[in-house]
Amino acid sequence: MEIQIANESHFKYAEAICDTIAESAKVRGTGIAKRTPEYICKRLGNGNAIIALDNGKFAGFCYIEVWGHEKFVANSGLIVHPDYRSQGLAKKIKEKTFELSKEKFPDAKIFGITTGLAVMKINYELGYKPTTFSELTDDPEFWKGCQTCKNFDILTRTERKMCLCTGMLYDPATDNKKKAENEVTKGHEKANPKAFKKLKSIKESLFIKKKE
Ligand SMILES: CC(C)(COP(=O)(O)OP(=O)(O)OC[C@H]1O[C@@H](n2cnc3c(N)ncnc32)[C@H](O)[C@@H]1OP(=O)(O)O)[C@@H](O)C(=O)NCCC(=O)NCCS
Repeated sequence: MEIQIANESHFKYAEAICDTIAESAKVRGTGIAKRTPEYICKRLGNGNAIIALDNGKFAGFCYIEVWGHEKFVANSGLIVHPDYRSQGLAKKIKEKTFELSKEKFPDAKIFGITTGLAVMKINYELGYKPTTFSELTDDPEFWKGCQTCKNFDILTRTERKMCLCTGMLYDPATDNKKKAENEVTKGHEKANPKAFKKLKSIKESLFIKKKE
């Protein structure tokens, strides 16, 4: 299995990607934004998409979109062909898309909206947190993408405050803060290992319930 950044040589897979997305939405019975082959070709050609191929056969796809002048990016359109499901492929594609997002747009918040448990699980493991739509981009172009979803009337009725999808957000600032805190902790441990060990054992005795 080859998982790579897509380019123009992958335009020939646009049709297969659209068909797989549409078929899967039908089977799931949930709403999904419809995509045309032209729309997918744009994503395949701009260096912001990941495609998985098995000996030249389409296996999976996901793309990055930039919103609100690079304040936000979304990892969207995740699809794994039914022949390749339940083998961890979606996870690998999402991880690669996430890494590419951080590399190309290091300051952007990364978000997605989904009704799918698999996607929620993957996002959570990558460090996304569930949130309300108010914390996501207010770029109207992003929400326009929902127009082709069968639940769009709900989104409109609630004035874009909520719908059936759950919003999930990764904030690089929170992640960097956590990393910095970990560094400080490591620094304390290095500077005074004995005192650190004692403090740790006191904390554990106070907060961790001992097994009987
Ligand atoms: C959702 C989808 C991308 C998952 O692809 P996949 O390659 O089978 O997923 P993975 O094997 O990487 O599984 C990732 C995790 O999700 C879980 N999972 C996979 N499919 C699931 C499902 N249908 N329901 C619940 N959990 C599921 C897996 O158990 C795994 O969790 P774990 O790490 O705790 O074991 C694929 O089923 C698909 O393309 N579906 C149709 C399109 C779709 O729903 N896209 C998302 C739109 S937001």
